[in-house]
Amino acid sequence: MEINLEEAFQKRIDEEIKIEPRDWMPEKYRKTLLRQISQHAHSEIVGMLPEGNWITRAPNLRRKVALLAKVQDEAGHGLYLYSAAETLGMTRDEMLAELHSGKAKYSSIFNYPTLTWADMGAIGWLVDGAAIMNQVPLCRASYGPYARAMVRVCKEESFHQRQGYEIMLTLCQGTPEQKAMAQDALNRWWWPSMMMFGPNDDNSPNSAQSTKWKIKRFSNDELRQKFVDVSVPQAEILGITIPDADLKWNEARGHYDFGVINWDEFNQVVAGNGPCNKQRLKARVDAWENGAWVREAAVAYAEKREKRKQNTENTNAA
Ligand SMILES: [Fe+2]
Ligand SMILES: [Fe+2]
Repeated sequence: MEINLEEAFQKRIDEEIKIEPRDWMPEKYRKTLLRQISQHAHSEIVGMLPEGNWITRAPNLRRKVALLAKVQDEAGHGLYLYSAAETLGMTRDEMLAELHSGKAKYSSIFNYPTLTWADMGAIGWLVDGAAIMNQVPLCRASYGPYARAMVRVCKEESFHQRQGYEIMLTLCQGTPEQKAMAQDALNRWWWPSMMMFGPNDDNSPNSAQSTKWKIKRFSNDELRQKFVDVSVPQAEILGITIPDADLKWNEARGHYDFGVINWDEFNQVVAGNGPCNKQRLKARVDAWENGAWVREAAVAYAEKREKRKQNTENTNAA
């Protein structure tokens, strides 16, 4: 019986029919998705912190409005994704408890500090740019609620990317000091952005299963290559240099070759030893604890309304 269910499940996936919350699914599919979607949700929420740091210091009102909208979008992305993850049988409180205890991961990119205004440019350009590469294929993921959430997320990400690139363009056309700030931000964000695609393919043991289930459509290395290929001409337009001595066009491959990622640094950041891991987690835990009274008040208010509704119904019935 189990075998037939599993075969039917795979057949639906092969035919590009979406899997919905009430459909039968293998336990491992459910767990894989739950881990991926909840980590994705946590990344959106933690990802608000490095940029939130600069909202009060944006150089003018237009930049402030755009950055505020961008950071608010990320909160929205977190909420769509928590909702999608909840359909797989875990409550939002449970997911947040895992984030706060350190059990659940989020994207390691957000454990780097934002030192100057140019970082808002580099993050929008590169981090949201890398996020788009990763997320566009997820709009076709086999799990319906995840795929549908990603459609709107991706539309907003493309605004984020342009917002960042425009900041970089303005800085690069400004004074030598401004251009130097842009170069410095590129130097610091390039390699962490490259790490956003995850380990190399031969080091990514769960990829084959995720590909078979059509959660994953392209491998980590394929996506990373795409990211390099689109970023190089963008850096050329800006007139700044990607910090990679091995970066060069490979005519035979029709792609850019690039240097080796420092996987030791990646593993350290994932393990909790990045420059801002403790600060980021503390910010989330503090927000949860300081917001307890709001959650309690909301529950008390909902209970009061429910009671009043019942009283009115009783009176009307009598
Ligand atoms: Fe986002
Ligand atoms: Fe974004």
